Amino acid sequence: MTLVREQGSPGSSGPSARPRELAPRSGPATVGASKLHAQLTGVTKLFPAPSGENPVHALGPIDMAVERGEFFAIVGPSGCGKSTLLDILAGLAAPTDGTVVFENKPISGAVPPGIGVVFQEDASFPWLTVWDNVAFGLRRAGLERGETTKRVEHWLRFMGLADFARAHPAHLSGGMRQRVCIARTLVLEPRMILLDEPFGALDQQTRLLMGDELLRLWRATGATVVLITHAIDEACMLADRVGVMTARPGRFADVAVTRWPGDRDSRIVSDPSFGQLTGRVWSILRDESIKAIGHAEGDIGGRSP
Ligand SMILES: Nc1ncnc2c1ncn2[C@@H]1O[C@H](COP(=O)(O)OP(=O)(O)O)[C@@H](O)[C@H]1O
Ligand SMILES: [Mg+2]
Repeated sequence: MTLVREQGSPGSSGPSARPRELAPRSGPATVGASKLHAQLTGVTKLFPAPSGENPVHALGPIDMAVERGEFFAIVGPSGCGKSTLLDILAGLAAPTDGTVVFENKPISGAVPPGIGVVFQEDASFPWLTVWDNVAFGLRRAGLERGETTKRVEHWLRFMGLADFARAHPAHLSGGMRQRVCIARTLVLEPRMILLDEPFGALDQQTRLLMGDELLRLWRATGATVVLITHAIDEACMLADRVGVMTARPGRFADVAVTRWPGDRDSRIVSDPSFGQLTGRVWSILRDESIKAIGHAEGDIGGRSP
């Protein structure tokens, strides 16, 4: 498998595609203005302390930019501010300082049209059928009935849920319930999809296959994807770039450019350079995770290689 993205493939940088290079390399967390889809600049988040002492400095200052159609994954130690970052990018939380821009407009106060969010927890409505779960957002938006039916049926088929349209979420596996949540977001045709550890509750095999599903829908929609995950293999397999965050307050310690082809799938995990990439991400993440749990490095087996 080549590590160079095919020209013209989803997420490709076109005729000026990067030169062939086998080793993954570091890049900036920012992108050129012409391809810019979303951007955080100097973003900081402080939360008031529960006991009224010093506030919790959760995030930043951090800069990040994603290209249109790019797949950007973020890994980082537990509690480093990943969900906070995603909430700010989605417009669900306001930064204490800094700016957030989506499609050249500042985000403030609400999730703008064009952004879809998928969370870790099963957010399906248990009292609605799969069909009604997926139709929920379109009905609320007042979409015409025929168009609603067309879109719901398309996404049910795409996500392999057509035979379960009349079932309730309680009768589905965890992986299928998460597919319902993804279909419910996709039916609104977002141009940027933000996912916060969406497969965290699934077993390893299901996670890898759900990763393939995510690649398939990324290619089919051409949407920009920002994925938060605690799984290094998932981030390295799926993304064009992998941002590795520091311990809290989270910033980027590294941004690895993966150079996978646009038509990649989970079989990439057996590629020798996959091990090289995950090894490098882990060496950074290991140091930051040790800091995050508050141990001296020597307590946990010395310096990483
Ligand atoms: N609403 C909140 N109020 C106070 N502290 C919060 C709140 N949300 C998150 N935090 C704190 O901010 C830090 C980052 O949280 P979070 O973004 O959820 O981390 P991650 O997703 O990386 O595990 C943690 O120390 C967490 O306790
Ligand atoms: Mg989180």
